[in-house]
Amino acid sequence: MTTLTHISPKLLEIIADRLPEQHPEHDPSTNSNYQYFKVNQTDLDLSVSFEEQIVRGTVTFDLTPKLDTDTIVLDTLYLNVDQVAVNDEKVEFDLKELVKPLGAPLVIKASCTKDTPLKLSVSYSTTSESIAIQFMTKDQTTGKTQPYLFSQCEPHYFRSMCPSFDTPSIKSTFNFKVESPLPSLMSGALVSPNEFTSKPLHKSFENADNKSYYFKQNVPIPSYLVAIVSGDIVGAPTGPRSTVYSEPCEIAACKYEFEADMENFIVTAEKLIFDYKFGTFDSVVLPVSFPYLGMENTNLCTLSRTLLSGDRQNVDVVAHELAHSWSGNLVTNCSWEHFWLNEGWTVYIERRITGALYGEPTRHFSAIIGWTDLSNSIKSMGDNLERYSCLVQTLKDRSDPDDAFSTVPYEKGFNLLFHLENVVGRDSFDKFIPFYFNKFSKISLDTYQFLDCLYEFFADKKDLLDSVDWKTWLFTPGLPPKPDFDTSMVDACYELGDRWILLAKTSTDFDLKFSSLDISSFTANQNLVFIDYLSSYEGTDGFTWTSALGQAAIKLMDNLYPTYSTSSNGEVIFRWLRLQLTGDIKEARQVMSDWLGTVGRMKFVRPSYKLLNQVDRELALETYQKYKNIYNPICLQLVRKDISVDI
Ligand code: BES
Ligand code: ZN
Repeated sequence: MTTLTHISPKLLEIIADRLPEQHPEHDPSTNSNYQYFKVNQTDLDLSVSFEEQIVRGTVTFDLTPKLDTDTIVLDTLYLNVDQVAVNDEKVEFDLKELVKPLGAPLVIKASCTKDTPLKLSVSYSTTSESIAIQFMTKDQTTGKTQPYLFSQCEPHYFRSMCPSFDTPSIKSTFNFKVESPLPSLMSGALVSPNEFTSKPLHKSFENADNKSYYFKQNVPIPSYLVAIVSGDIVGAPTGPRSTVYSEPCEIAACKYEFEADMENFIVTAEKLIFDYKFGTFDSVVLPVSFPYLGMENTNLCTLSRTLLSGDRQNVDVVAHELAHSWSGNLVTNCSWEHFWLNEGWTVYIERRITGALYGEPTRHFSAIIGWTDLSNSIKSMGDNLERYSCLVQTLKDRSDPDDAFSTVPYEKGFNLLFHLENVVGRDSFDKFIPFYFNKFSKISLDTYQFLDCLYEFFADKKDLLDSVDWKTWLFTPGLPPKPDFDTSMVDACYELGDRWILLAKTSTDFDLKFSSLDISSFTANQNLVFIDYLSSYEGTDGFTWTSALGQAAIKLMDNLYPTYSTSSNGEVIFRWLRLQLTGDIKEARQVMSDWLGTVGRMKFVRPSYKLLNQVDRELALETYQKYKNIYNPICLQLVRKDISVDI
């Protein structure tokens, strides 16, 4: 726990009514009594049954109480608990009632004395509702050779894979052991069994067909970075310290997609911050239902197969997940209220990496795309705008951290850091970067500690920092002040957009003015900017794409730019369908419905269902019933809320 000693009185006054009593602030999204304990080490021993679609496990925590207490409370969510032992003696426990969304507290009787270490073990099994893990039959995989299992724990789902102090405020080193009939990976370095300091815990569920895999995570990490993948997976090198894994049928495509950039990214990030601390940076490309583009599990970043476009145009996602190795994985938000410290910093580093490698205009181009995403996301928040568009979030009502998820922590966070870079000057800000990451390495912090660190480092520039409009940046809903971006790469997209809008408003004489050559030199991202520009014109000056001229323009565009409707890039398809549905082009409804059977990424699936639901609820419901079995449980739970269906 630390106190703030460097922030200027002026800023202290601005944040006074938000200041917590202690730093880092308490995490409201856990039921555990984590504040009583230091977790020195966690051993997680898992066994996978594909027949039963269950993971059985024993978790052992090496704890040191910070205060006296007679109970230990752990988080669980849809788990069965079999047995609990303290220092190898069985003890009583009470698995309380489940209250959504944070789960069922597991209350364990144990007399804990300050500074006297103890060993706590819990044996348990998952259920069909354990949200973090998704079992798939072989038909649901890409190669259809073997069944598959993968996990997704961020933000608060580790508790459905393992009883735990499931808060990003607690960090621990880990030993992982997994028994499975299929090749398995976890979020640490693969080691041989004799490198384990502790003995394997429970032998009871070993069986002859299963193999055991051992992993060590020697850097203390929060629980949301733990991951398991088990299935027909093979690996291929993508650089001297990186391997990509996937099903055999697409391993060559994975290697091709990532090998040119991987090591360059790592080296560039190291120059900006400091050495990569986790040894290897491995990744695994998952089957289609993975609900994200990427997830930064330590040593095992999970990636969506929609990145495999064959043209290396999506590698910025890898730069993003790699950047988390510093922002998030080493320096961690203490709760999901301060999620921008993870994601805003990561977007900032991601763009510094791509900017260093491909030039500053590229960095600014990505920032402009991000700005458009941010304004679209804020526009679509409706009644939730006040609540969800502030940089620092409030989850003290114990609401679902996933409900607060949006582009805001990413892009408002990025823009704050970009603004600070401009306020103090790039060279000075570059010196602050390693200072900050070093100061909070291996610990978790809140926004106030970030501010304190900033004021500490820039002690001689306090006035400059005080000139920042902190109240607006941190606590005010809506868009932040717009920075000056270099628009050289977007100008061509806007010019073409303006021509289409002008014609859609004034004349039907389109075919004289446009040709397929208009977009022939566009990069994938320039196409996105162009289409977004058109969509965002909806409602401006009373114009709507549903007007006869607007619809005719969209149809002509479809003829002239056929690469949009036949694209294999999800980002393009999604945006193109969104524009068509905005213009109420009826034929696009069924196309979107069919497409929803081929994508699992929430960023596409959720807004697509919302749009379809607005224009054709019957089709949205029919589509949902048809494809609900392919989606990941996290995605499914949110889509249900989005379109108000129960099952
Ligand atoms: N850590 C996130 C994914 C995440 C966030 C999972 C919150 C669960 C809760 C990851 O780093 C991420 O941001 N992924 C993005 C891609 C990125 C390039 C912006 C995604 O998957 O959309
Ligand atoms: Zn991220």
